[in-house]
Amino acid sequence: MEEITSKEALRELIGEWRRAGDHIALVPTMGNLHDGHIDLVDIARMHAERVVVSLFVNPTQFGEGEDFEDYPRTLERDRRRLKRAKADVLFAPDVDVIYPFGLDTAASVTLPVLTAEFCGESRPGHFDGVTTVVARLFSMVQPDVAVFGQKDYQQLLVIKRLVEDMSLPIEIIQAPTRRESDGLAMSSRNQYLTDEERQAAPELYGALAEIAEALEAGADDYGALERKAVNRLEAAGFEPEYVSIRRAENLENPDRETDELVVLAAARLGNSRLIDNVLVHV
Ligand code: PAJ
Repeated sequence: MEEITSKEALRELIGEWRRAGDHIALVPTMGNLHDGHIDLVDIARMHAERVVVSLFVNPTQFGEGEDFEDYPRTLERDRRRLKRAKADVLFAPDVDVIYPFGLDTAASVTLPVLTAEFCGESRPGHFDGVTTVVARLFSMVQPDVAVFGQKDYQQLLVIKRLVEDMSLPIEIIQAPTRRESDGLAMSSRNQYLTDEERQAAPELYGALAEIAEALEAGADDYGALERKAVNRLEAAGFEPEYVSIRRAENLENPDRETDELVVLAAARLGNSRLIDNVLVHV
C-alpha cells in the first residue's frame, strides 16, 4: 500500500492506473478506522481494480464547540488495518492540501435540500462542510465509484443528490451498517462513552428496531411510534434529539402509499452524540 499526502503524487498514480485501464474506487473517511470502515474497503474492492482510502479529519464539517480537536487520530493503527484490507493507497493529506487558500476563503459546495433537518439542524453548517470536502476529494481522486455507509444515512442521501445534481460520473455505493454484537452501530465516537453509557448505548438501535418491527406488522401511527421511542430512550438515560419515520428516498414525510421507510434517530448520551437508522420495507 502506498501512502500519499500530496495531490501531485496522487494525480501521477491515478494517471498511471487510468492508462492501464483500471477502475478506481474511493472510500472517504476521517480515520480511527473500525470494522465498518473496513467493510467499505472490501465493498470498494468488488467494484474496482484500485482502491483509494482517504483519511482526513475535515475541519469545515465540525461546528464550534464540537470535537474537531479531540477527534481520535490513530494513523499508525489505521495504516496497518488498511494494509491488511489491501487498499492500494492511503491518501492522508494535510489541511492545506485540501484547502490551499485557507478555510476562510475556500470555495464551498452547498446543497439546499436534505440538509436543513435532523443532523443539519443540530449541527449548522455540517453538511456544507461534508459536501465541500467530498467534492474536493472527488475532483482529486476522480473515482468511478465511491462507497458511503448507511450509518450516516442523511449524509449518504446528500452525497447521492450532489452527484446527480452536478452530473458527476461517479457511482455511489451504499454499504450496510456494521454493528457490535449488542446492536450498537460501530462509530469512531463510541470510544467517548463511559462504561455505564456503553451499556446503555444499544438502546438506540433497540428503539429503532422496535419501530421497524411495529411498522412491518402494520402500525401506521408514526407520531405515536416516534413518541414511544423517545420515551424509551429517555428512560435509558438518553437525551433524544430526534426520532423520525421518513421516506427512505428523500427524507420527506411518508404517506400511506410509501413502502420504503427509514427510521432515523440521534440522541445524546452523556457527552456523546449517537446517531443510527434502520430501513424498513412495508
Ligand atoms: P467517517 O465518520 O470516518 O465515516 C467514513 C465512512 O464510513 C462513511 O461513509 C460512514 O457512513 C461509514 N461508516 C461509519 N460507521 C459505519 C458503520 N458502523 N458501518 C458501516 N459504515 C460506517 O463520514 C465521514 O467520515 C465524513 O463525513 C466523510 C464522508 C469522510 C467526509 O469528511
